[in-house]
Amino acid sequence: MPIIAPSLLSANFLELQKDCDLLNASEADWYHLDVMDGRFVPNISFGPMFVEFFRKATDKICDVHLMIEEPEKYAETFQKAGADILTVHYEACRHLHRNLQQIKLLGMKAGIAINPHTPVHMLENILPDADLICVMSVNPGFGGQKFIAATIEKVKALKSLITATHSKALIEIDGGVTLDNASALVQAGADVLVAGNTVFKSANPAETIRLLKQVK
Ligand code: DX5
Ligand code: ZN
Repeated sequence: MPIIAPSLLSANFLELQKDCDLLNASEADWYHLDVMDGRFVPNISFGPMFVEFFRKATDKICDVHLMIEEPEKYAETFQKAGADILTVHYEACRHLHRNLQQIKLLGMKAGIAINPHTPVHMLENILPDADLICVMSVNPGFGGQKFIAATIEKVKALKSLITATHSKALIEIDGGVTLDNASALVQAGADVLVAGNTVFKSANPAETIRLLKQVK
């Protein structure tokens, strides 16, 4: 069964308590929290203050996806805000190994996200140090974009690389995940499915989460 991580970016920010209650009562496993700085990605979302509010609103795992430049400057801030998993972008880190060490020393799980153009083999030497690899299946910055089909083959290649390097990293897919492509992703090796629009724009979000959880 995949881990389901709804992205709160697609929630209704005027009624966040309602959406948190909905997720808490659902089969969702994690809260996926998308932090954007308007520099690494062409959009600005929310920062540590929101993570702190979400932390207080749930006992579920807070999976924080940093789409920001110089993430090392903010690792401690997000740890204090309550992040359980902190994911930084491969493309934003000049000293990725050091960045992962910093995150782990702060007591969080360390994730690496890769943009659609980054080949998985670039991760070969860092895989044993990562707890999670977030494969972007859209260009980061916005919810509700179309899934990039080539991601399926990328996930298969990453799965082989993880096995070959004896890494324990989970594979997370982020962007454009739907009930139609979820099965192919899980069969390719995905462990975690992020879903924003698919969950929050559906008529019955809790039922959509339940269906995603059943995907084989
Ligand atoms: C995109 C974000 C995603 C996004 C997913 O930059 O990292 O987490 O919110 O939203 P959907 O599932 O709607 O593509
Ligand atoms: Zn994300």
